[in-house]
Amino acid sequence: MSDRTMRRQVLLFFSILSTRLALGQVSYSIPEEMAIGSLVGNIAQDLGLDVKRLKSGKARIYTGDSAEYIELNRDRGALLVKDRIDREHLCGQTTPCALHFQIILEHPMELFRVTVEITDVNDNAPAFAKNMKTFEISEIAGIGATFMLERAVDPDVGVNGLQRYVLNPTDHFQIRLKKQPDGGNKVEMVLHQPLDREQQDTLSLVLTAVDGGEPQLSGSMQIHITVFDANDNPPVFTQEIYKAAVVENSPVGATLVKAIASDADKGSNSHVSYSLSGSADSFTDIFKIDPKTGDLILTGQADYEKAKHYQMFVEATDEGGLSDSSKVIVDVIDVNDNSPQINVMSKSSSLSENAPQTTVIAMISVNDPDSDSSGEVNCEINENIPFAIKSTATGFYSLVTDSDLDRERASEYNISITCCDEGVPSLSSSVTLTLHISDVNDNAPVFERSSYEAYIVENNTPGLSIFTVKATDADWNQNARVSYILEDSSVNGVPVSSYVSVSADSGVIHAVRSFDYEHIKDFRLCVKAQDGGSPPLSSNVTVKITIQDQNDNAPQVLYPVQTSSSVVAEMVPRSADVGYLVTKVVAVDVDSGQNAWLSYKLQKATDRALFEVGLQNGEIRTIRQVTDKDAVKQRLTVVVEDNGQPSRSATVNVNVAVADSFPEVLSEFTDFTHDKEYNDNLTFYLVLALAVVSFLFITCLVVIISVKIYRWRQSRILYHSSLPVIPYYPPRYSDTLGTGTLQHVYNYEVCRTTDSRKSDCKFGRAGSQNVLIMDPSCTGTMQRIQNEKNILDEPDSPVEVRIMIIFPLNLENTSLVFVFFSFFFTCTLSN
Ligand SMILES: *[C@@H]1O[C@H](CO)[C@@H](O)[C@H](O)[C@H]1NC(C)=O
Ligand SMILES: *[C@@H]1O[C@H](CO)[C@@H](O)[C@H](O)[C@H]1NC(C)=O
Repeated sequence: MSDRTMRRQVLLFFSILSTRLALGQVSYSIPEEMAIGSLVGNIAQDLGLDVKRLKSGKARIYTGDSAEYIELNRDRGALLVKDRIDREHLCGQTTPCALHFQIILEHPMELFRVTVEITDVNDNAPAFAKNMKTFEISEIAGIGATFMLERAVDPDVGVNGLQRYVLNPTDHFQIRLKKQPDGGNKVEMVLHQPLDREQQDTLSLVLTAVDGGEPQLSGSMQIHITVFDANDNPPVFTQEIYKAAVVENSPVGATLVKAIASDADKGSNSHVSYSLSGSADSFTDIFKIDPKTGDLILTGQADYEKAKHYQMFVEATDEGGLSDSSKVIVDVIDVNDNSPQINVMSKSSSLSENAPQTTVIAMISVNDPDSDSSGEVNCEINENIPFAIKSTATGFYSLVTDSDLDRERASEYNISITCCDEGVPSLSSSVTLTLHISDVNDNAPVFERSSYEAYIVENNTPGLSIFTVKATDADWNQNARVSYILEDSSVNGVPVSSYVSVSADSGVIHAVRSFDYEHIKDFRLCVKAQDGGSPPLSSNVTVKITIQDQNDNAPQVLYPVQTSSSVVAEMVPRSADVGYLVTKVVAVDVDSGQNAWLSYKLQKATDRALFEVGLQNGEIRTIRQVTDKDAVKQRLTVVVEDNGQPSRSATVNVNVAVADSFPEVLSEFTDFTHDKEYNDNLTFYLVLALAVVSFLFITCLVVIISVKIYRWRQSRILYHSSLPVIPYYPPRYSDTLGTGTLQHVYNYEVCRTTDSRKSDCKFGRAGSQNVLIMDPSCTGTMQRIQNEKNILDEPDSPVEVRIMIIFPLNLENTSLVFVFFSFFFTCTLSN
């Protein structure tokens, strides 16, 4: 206040000076905005006038056109503020600002110039045109980016005018003023700290303009900054690693995990799409990611056995191309979905039956790709077989024998190996190995029986099979091939091999010779059966061969002795009683049994009524009283017959003399010797010869008649035709002699002897025995037959029929018949 006063006084002094010099000019200086009625200056005093003068002079203020802010109080002689004086209104920015007016006095007219300088008072605060300004700035705006602000206006001047701007807060922007040519400042806002929409998407600043007055005044405006988004933020996953687990063989379509990436940006810059990437493509057909939601979806079969876990990267990309990636680990949880795999590494398909225990047959490896207990495997084999399975190492087993083998009990085993894992439910698989047990020669041949007994009828043909022994061998093939061997021994001092032979292959026992029961009745032999093994095994058996009797021996009469020279007679006294034992025919038969059981019969007797023969004992007894009429010479023929089939017999002639004295006997006996036993046989041959001759005769007759008829027909044809006829003769037919006889020689010879048992020429049948057994006496006959065959084939042999029939001389009674036949035959043929 004191400053102001002093200044006013100084100013007043100069005004007084200037007023005096220039007819009164007074200057005052007052601040603006003084209250109405405030004293501007004591003008009367300053002009040196008296208040009375002012009144008398009707002093008044003359302002011309301008408004009157100052009034003149003539009573006080002072200038007072009449109206509100606003410097800014009066002068604006012009300085100094003064009011110029005149005080005019009348009587005398005087004119005083008054200047009232209006000094500035800080009555105006700086002000902005708008109290709010809005900016939209991208967050990526660079440092130094400049934004224009409005200037503030302060009508005050000088120190009261606008001095500076203050921006608050200043963490991103600063104020920079730029001098303008008009002396003002351009107000700029400069970015000095980058914006981040994600941190602060709007900023509110206050720009304050401050003047220098006392007190200081200020004006402010709001600056509102909206930070525009820029794609300055990549998406960020919520986790660095996403973990998920999937049970293998899960159904397709399950969502395993959700990967979420957030993008701090806004709008399209925050739109994230997901994709999978990884070093290997192994998962591409198993997993996919939903590009929008980030769901990891199972699209295929996860197989624990292929991969226990999958690692992949999920990538999130926003639309601006910024991306982030995160790892996804999917663990596959094992399920017992694999049955054990059995792999036979080596095996033997056959094993010798004498293989020792714990012989390894097969090695197998078992693998179950499942994990934990699902992959733990136990193997077993079927029961009741002599094998065991042993684990050698993890996953490796060996199949061994655990007891003795016997091919004869079981020659083949089907060993089924079953392996189960311990999963729930358990899975199993199995393989079957077939093991053949190979043979070892551990069984000797065994005969069907412990001993044999065989029978053969004597007089067998050599080579006849008697019996078959059979041994079986439980072994196989060569080891079971039994051959039969006759063991050396001797029978009655002769090696047994000269009696029988044994067929090595079949075990058939053949007779080597023809046996004679009367010579040997039985014998034993030992046959060894030996197999073909190496070394061979054998066993032996005893065969008892019993020769059976055949009725091959006729009874032999020992008594009475038969001689041709002398005659022995039994004497029967005429006085002999009934039942008198005349004699006893004693006969033996070397056969045995029935074949030697002899019976005696009376075949012929001079007087059958007189004697009988005891059927069993051969005793000849009288059966009636001998009378005198009975002839002295009695001849009995006794047949001794054995009981064989067929039976054989012998006859014995017993001469009995019924006489009391010996000379009587002698005179009566003549030769009894003639024997006519063969008459029966002869009859047969005679009939046969007759039949042959008759047949030949009839044949000739037929041929001759045929020829005759033919000839007759030929002559008839010749007679009826005029052509010459050349007669046709069939081959081998010749009529040279005109007799009509046949060309060929038919030469017959009947060869016979009286002994039927030895006469036959036998041709053995080729199939059964290749032996021609021929009586040497017949050889000549055979040759003759051969010769006659040749003659028959010869075409030019003479026409002759010769019938030679040789009869024994003693056929007197029948010869006549044949003579007649021969005669008749010859007559017929000659015709
Ligand atoms: C073993 O199996 C085969 C084929 O299935 C069969 O033919 C044979 O009889 C079986 N052997 C045994 C001893 O069971
Ligand atoms: C069989 O042969 C054995 C050995 O060669 C022998 O000891 C045994 O006595 C024979 N047995 C017979 C019945 O011959």
